[in-house]
Amino acid sequence: MSKKVLVATEKPFAAEAVQLIREKSDAAGYELILLEKYQDKADFINAVKNVDALIVRSDKVTAEVLENAANLKIVVRAGAGYDNLDLAAASAKKVVCMNTPGQNSNAVAELAFGMMLYLARCQFQPKSGTELLGKKIGIHAYGNVGKNVARIARGFGMQVFAFDPYVSNEVMQAEGITPLKSVEELYSTCNYISLHLPKTEATVNFVNKNLLRLLPTGGVLINTARKEVVCEEGLRLILQERPDFKYASDIAPDIADELKAQFPTQVYFTPKKMGAQTEEANINAGVAAISQIIDFLEKGITTFQVNK
Ligand code: 3PG
Repeated sequence: MSKKVLVATEKPFAAEAVQLIREKSDAAGYELILLEKYQDKADFINAVKNVDALIVRSDKVTAEVLENAANLKIVVRAGAGYDNLDLAAASAKKVVCMNTPGQNSNAVAELAFGMMLYLARCQFQPKSGTELLGKKIGIHAYGNVGKNVARIARGFGMQVFAFDPYVSNEVMQAEGITPLKSVEELYSTCNYISLHLPKTEATVNFVNKNLLRLLPTGGVLINTARKEVVCEEGLRLILQERPDFKYASDIAPDIADELKAQFPTQVYFTPKKMGAQTEEANINAGVAAISQIIDFLEKGITTFQVNK
């Protein structure tokens, strides 16, 4: 019997990406099942029942999903952040979990600049805005997205700084970045902060009022990471205290409606998480996901496994 691969994407990939995933799956002799735009998690749970492999985006792979997937051997999150996978539950069931690091990073970085320009140019209202040229940008966590942000920032003529305790100064300096010694130094130095922290137990609410208060006048925070890394109470407080402060996020906070009503010129939230939503990123991440599944099921290759 042929192996079954389920692509379960509440927010679908571009059609071209699905086509390429299908071609790879067909060539391996697998059966590809597509569940897109599902409204109810019961549909997901039902679809996962007989599959050997699963590709998701931000779809939540919970213990309940895993319990209902008796044949499941591998889950690939087509993207970078895997906080949507219950790794402990997967490990307990000996299901391998992987991500596809780097595959959608440029798309996310480009959106960060879209949001920076939108805020710098007064939400495209006919008023005088400001330019990015010569401004200081601070990259908070220098991973794959951060690197792309740095590359694009240099094109805009920005001064690029970063803070990341896991990346050496030498690596940053070789890439033309000025490494800063502390997160406090980053926030107090830079006009723009581009946030790329993954969501972990240690990073939830990490960007709090104390950090935000350090931003220079006119400081802007751009969040293309996860909503949970910014403390919502702190955010509300700083928006009240500082009419010069602006916040744009690709992941609307729970209090988004309230903030939009109260601070319409200071905040912007995309209607749905769109950072990785380009044809190119969908193709890169989707093809990487099916390739990793084939490599694992056929050859036992576990590169990019995140639940050891
Ligand atoms: C990621 O972690 O790769 C991004 O947040 C993209 O998420 P998405 O696939 O849900 O757009």
